Amino acid sequence: MRKNIVAGNWKMNTTLAEGVGLAKDVNEALKNAADVKCDVVICVPFTHLAPVAAVIDGKLGLGAENCADHVKGAYTGEVSAPMVASTGAKYVILGHSERRQYYGETSAILKEKVNLALAENLTPIFCIGEVLEERENGTFLDVVTRQIREALFGLSAEDFGKLILAYEPVWAIGTGKTATADQAQEMHAHIRGVIAEKYGKEVADNCSILYGGSCKPSNAKELFAKADVDGGLIGGAALDAASFMGIVTAF
Ligand code: PGA
Repeated sequence: MRKNIVAGNWKMNTTLAEGVGLAKDVNEALKNAADVKCDVVICVPFTHLAPVAAVIDGKLGLGAENCADHVKGAYTGEVSAPMVASTGAKYVILGHSERRQYYGETSAILKEKVNLALAENLTPIFCIGEVLEERENGTFLDVVTRQIREALFGLSAEDFGKLILAYEPVWAIGTGKTATADQAQEMHAHIRGVIAEKYGKEVADNCSILYGGSCKPSNAKELFAKADVDGGLIGGAALDAASFMGIVTAF
């Protein structure tokens, strides 16, 4: 059956020294926590990957926040999936709404990134979600269906089964405005249905679907209690070890 997962997304925060310190704190807290019922991952800036890999144990997963849509070559400033994998990272966030919105990442680009990540045995944490206008005009289910179809439905069932999905309503990211547990459940059940239609019930049932958007210790329990919410992708609250662990222990 599918795994419960709590993943931190540090975004463009922390200097190297601060990031290594935070990773050590999370690592230590996780080691000392009794009865952790989920996988725990931190996704950190590229510059932090190798130094963080050196200070954490196997129990804490490590990921990047993005990778390039080309495997190597003359793409100044880009970081490829093989480079990410060579640091010891095992995960990569792809399709985050900030990448789509500020850096023009389209489904066609994301499709390439997913393929390149899978080729390196990295687990993509693939983000999908509607903007406020789409929530308000009632098209949100269709928008998310389209995001999944366009970027992911070229995959074989075997490869699709390697993905983690993260539903992140854009209007809830960093705004303090969380989707209600019922809104999250409605969308997660919809996503699972879309997957089932294409790949069958078993693949859909085995897919971990995380919720992201102002998830914090005070609301994590209610969100994670929903049948189709398998954990969280955590931004702001992942920058403080105690808050992050408050979410990890909500399971
Ligand atoms: P937030 O960010 O928890 O700060 O809302 C979540 C995300 O963007 O992954």
